Amino acid sequence: MISNCTDVEVKKAAKALKDGHLVAFPTETVYGLGADANNSKAVARIYEVKERPTDHPLIVHISSINQISKWAIDIPDYAITLARKFWPGPMTLILSRSDLAQDYITGGQDTVGVRIPSHPVALALLSEFENLGGRGVAAPSANRFGAVSPTSAEAVNEELSRVFGSKDLLLGGGICKIGIESTIVDCTSILPRVLRPGFVTNEMIQEVTSLKIDHSRKKNMVRASGLMKSHYSPRAKIEIGSEPLPGDGFIALETYATPEGVIRLAAPKTIEQYANTLYKAFRTADQNGILRIKIAMPAGNGLAAAIRDRIKKAAHKF
Ligand code: TXA
Ligand code: MG
Repeated sequence: MISNCTDVEVKKAAKALKDGHLVAFPTETVYGLGADANNSKAVARIYEVKERPTDHPLIVHISSINQISKWAIDIPDYAITLARKFWPGPMTLILSRSDLAQDYITGGQDTVGVRIPSHPVALALLSEFENLGGRGVAAPSANRFGAVSPTSAEAVNEELSRVFGSKDLLLGGGICKIGIESTIVDCTSILPRVLRPGFVTNEMIQEVTSLKIDHSRKKNMVRASGLMKSHYSPRAKIEIGSEPLPGDGFIALETYATPEGVIRLAAPKTIEQYANTLYKAFRTADQNGILRIKIAMPAGNGLAAAIRDRIKKAAHKF
C-alpha cells in the first residue's frame, strides 16, 4: 500500500486529494492523514477512518506563508514573526478563522490551526495540490484516535491499512526526523499561549517574539485532543520512574543500564533521539506483547519538556 515519493506518485496523490480521497503523507513531526480542507465529505472520512470525535478540530496544512490569509483573519504581528522564523517547520498557529475555515475543520470553534510542514514530500504534495486549485490540506496524525502517532510509513500501514479505501494513498517518506507532533501556539490573544509543547520551545518563542508566554488557563478551553489527559497511548501500561523488572520494556537515555531480563525498547543518546524513537518504542512494545513499559523521563526544558508531556499522556488511562 506504500507509494514511493517520486514526482509521479506525488502528483497522483495531489490529484487523489483534489478528487476527495485521503492521502497519508510524511511530515518532519509525524505522518499526517490528509484530505482537501474544502471538501466536507473528504474531511468527514478522516473522522470516520480515525474514529475521532467530530468536535476535535483539524490542522490545515499549506505550502507557503501567503496562503495563511486565506484561512485566518486578524493575524497578530507576533504570529507573523513566528511563521517567518519557524515555517516551514514543526509549529502550528491557532488563529481567528476566515470564512474558508468551516465548522467541519474547526470543530465549530471560531479559530483555525495552520501549519507549513518542512518535509520535502509534504511540501511537494501541498504545492501540487495548490497547483490543482486546492487551498489547504486538513491532516491529523495518521493514527486511530487516542493511539500512538505514526513516525514511519510502516506504522501508518499498521494503523490504517484495514480502513483505507481503494483510492486512498499512503506516500512513503522515511522516518520522521522530529518524531513528536508540532508545537501548537494559540495566537488569538495579546500574548502567545502554548497549547501543546514540541520542538519549537517556549524559550524559542519568547526570544523571537520578545513576548512572555501566557501560562494562565483560558476559561472556555478549546477542545484539543492532544490536550486531553490521556492520549498517544500504547496498549502496554506505562510506569514512570520506577525500576524495571524482568519482562518489562524499558525506555531511557543510553546512560541507563538495562537490568537483566528487561527488554530495552530505546536507548537514545540525545534528547532529539529520545523524541524520534519514543513512538517507535511504544509500537515495538505492543508488537511484542510487552505488558508494561518502564520509563526514565529526560530532564530539562525545551524538547525534554515536550517528551515528558507525551509520556505523561501516554501513561494516563481513563
Ligand atoms: O505535527 C503535527 O501537528 C501533526 C502533523 C500531521 O502535522 N498533526 C497533528 O494533528 O498532530 P492532530 O489532529 O493529531 O493534533 C492536532 C491538535 C489536536 O489536539 C487538535 O485538537 C488541535 O491540534 N487543534 C487543531 N485546531 C485547533 C484549534 N482551532 N484550536 C485548538 N486546537 C486545535
Ligand atoms: Mg493526533
